[in-house]
Amino acid sequence: MTTHKVTLEPVGIEMNVEEGETVLDAAFRQGIALMHGCKEGQCSSCKSKLIDGDIDLLKYSTFALPDHERDENYILLCRTHAFSDLTVELTNFDEELLSRSIPVKDFKGKVAGVKDLTHDIRLLEIDLDEPIKFWAGQYVDISIPSKGVTRPYSMANPPSEGQKLQFIIKKYPDGEFSALLDGELKPGTEITAKGPYGGCFRREGRPGPIVLIGGGSGMSPLWSILHDHIQSGEQRPIRFFYGARTEKDLFYLDEFAGITSKLSDFKFIPALSDNNGGSWNGDTGFVHDVVQRRLREEQLTGPIDAYSCGPPPMIDAVMPVLFGIGVEPDHFYYDKFTQPMKKD
Ligand code: FES
Repeated sequence: MTTHKVTLEPVGIEMNVEEGETVLDAAFRQGIALMHGCKEGQCSSCKSKLIDGDIDLLKYSTFALPDHERDENYILLCRTHAFSDLTVELTNFDEELLSRSIPVKDFKGKVAGVKDLTHDIRLLEIDLDEPIKFWAGQYVDISIPSKGVTRPYSMANPPSEGQKLQFIIKKYPDGEFSALLDGELKPGTEITAKGPYGGCFRREGRPGPIVLIGGGSGMSPLWSILHDHIQSGEQRPIRFFYGARTEKDLFYLDEFAGITSKLSDFKFIPALSDNNGGSWNGDTGFVHDVVQRRLREEQLTGPIDAYSCGPPPMIDAVMPVLFGIGVEPDHFYYDKFTQPMKKD
């Protein structure tokens, strides 16, 4: 196996990459957490600049890396194979992510159960053979070896429960993995989990309010972040926005009511985009509009840490709203739930 050296600037980290593995995978293997999202060339989180060396790029989306950026030597580390020693300038890096790196490992486990949360959202529970260390908000790649399918899913449980994992998963009509949730995945079905991945994890020990914004299965990492925060005993104002289409897409309402009564400054604000003449008397409209209206009215004081997880259009809409109310870009953490790339 041919191995090359990769020098990461401006952080001065050196690592090895084997031919046949991507630079991002090599970093994960060596416990170096670089900025990443989808790991398959769609989200641009891992975009960096090649300063020196020979590489080849696997298939990627030109939304993540437009041709004019490729012409200027920008690359996606999750798609990069090295054919010589490389020097790469990280355009995006997060000191906290690097300092809290957890080496990615493979875990074995079994399905413990699947529960209905709504008509199309399920709670998948998995028992691992040994606990995984992760930060609240991170995800693993779950594989069902007997079905040959792998998908990334964020843990819904806090890291204190590292062996019994929960995942809130939205079913899609043509979802290869999610189609297995209704009947095929039975208690005892063998799974493997690889991780942890993701940079949208809870930042600890900070002052100021926390704003959580989710849609669909974006509830999963936010639920983990919320419970990890509660367990930490930190006292910070929290506003939790959840965008759904109709009332039948909402769940955990009793659990949210219980949390609201226990925490001193917590609000759960579900927003329905399609009330359609129903009896709903909560917030209506797209979740980014509701975030804007509510946060403008409330004028929370102190530096806000904002976390958003869910469909890319929701995050793209939420981002300018948050910056407009004064959230610093490096205090906005997000995880775009992209759909898997179609195979050729
Ligand atoms: S494009 Fe590389 S992680 Fe998403």
